[in-house]
Amino acid sequence: MEKRKIILDVDTGSDDAIAIAAAVLCEDIEVVGICTVGGNVEVKNTTDNTLRVLECCGRGDIPVYRGAALPLASTLQPWGLQAAVLPRTEGKIAQEKAVHPDHLPLPPTQLTARPQSAVVWLINTLLESEDKEITLVPVGPVTNIALAMRADERIIPKIKEIVLMGGSHDTYPPTQASEFNVWCDPEAMEILLQSGVKITMVSLDATGHACLDRNQADMIRAIGTSPANLTADLIYQRLKASAAEGDREGKGVGAALHDVLAVCAVVHPQVLTEIDHTSCHVDLGHGYAYGETVLGRNYKFSPMPKNCYYAKKADSRMFFDWLYGVLKE
Ligand code: RIB
Ligand code: CA
Repeated sequence: MEKRKIILDVDTGSDDAIAIAAAVLCEDIEVVGICTVGGNVEVKNTTDNTLRVLECCGRGDIPVYRGAALPLASTLQPWGLQAAVLPRTEGKIAQEKAVHPDHLPLPPTQLTARPQSAVVWLINTLLESEDKEITLVPVGPVTNIALAMRADERIIPKIKEIVLMGGSHDTYPPTQASEFNVWCDPEAMEILLQSGVKITMVSLDATGHACLDRNQADMIRAIGTSPANLTADLIYQRLKASAAEGDREGKGVGAALHDVLAVCAVVHPQVLTEIDHTSCHVDLGHGYAYGETVLGRNYKFSPMPKNCYYAKKADSRMFFDWLYGVLKE
């Protein structure tokens, strides 16, 4: 099988970290480079965390490019990020930091990001690539890709497809109405959705089926490699943080490895067991639904063109077997 060429765009955080490890270890994937963005934590930390993961995986050769610190527009308005957030208890804020700490449980690294900014590198790399050669896999806010599309629309026909982690429809998102990656930068996601590029949206509805429990974490730890230990550590970290807040993950559901499912879907699309080819657009109003991903109704005369393959379910067993196999390779 020819390796699938991908560019990861990450806000490394705990599930991003496992997604990076899985991508660079998967023999069916060639990671051309990794772009970082502000999201779970500040971009200086998402970049440093990404470098630490690459060191842990022995893949310091993979280039990392630092991207946008802030979203396109959502923090400019008073109704933006701050207003959309439900009043968070001190406990909730502490839990978020526990799920996505500023620094991953890995030693500091001497690896550094390349000097080019992520957006400049994205544009140059896509323009120099063959048509439909590279798949973009964003698993954080999609600010970098939106900026690149606006800065040089010639990259749009170059992109093979976008397989992203984001969106929510039937699963209650943590931010009122919007899944976190979309909520951070709603305008950016809408730019992608209007670009005409084939988009597979691995939503919270699908990643709810990509939860791993302690037993599975222990099976992974028994593999005995550094990436496997990191994966087990991060699963335990997420479970502990969620249990502290009584979140569903802490109620025996398991740690939802959102971003890892998106990487799995690139090389094993059959892991996504229910996909709607539908219209999807982001509410950019200034109300409570700001950032909500609004799916088309399957009415016969729905006026909206179908611009998204929206994944609703995933095969939990197939997902775990794939991740375990990649870490054991
Ligand atoms: O909603 C899940 C997404 O938000 C994941 O990408 C996770 O890393 C967080 O960024
Ligand atoms: Ca992420």
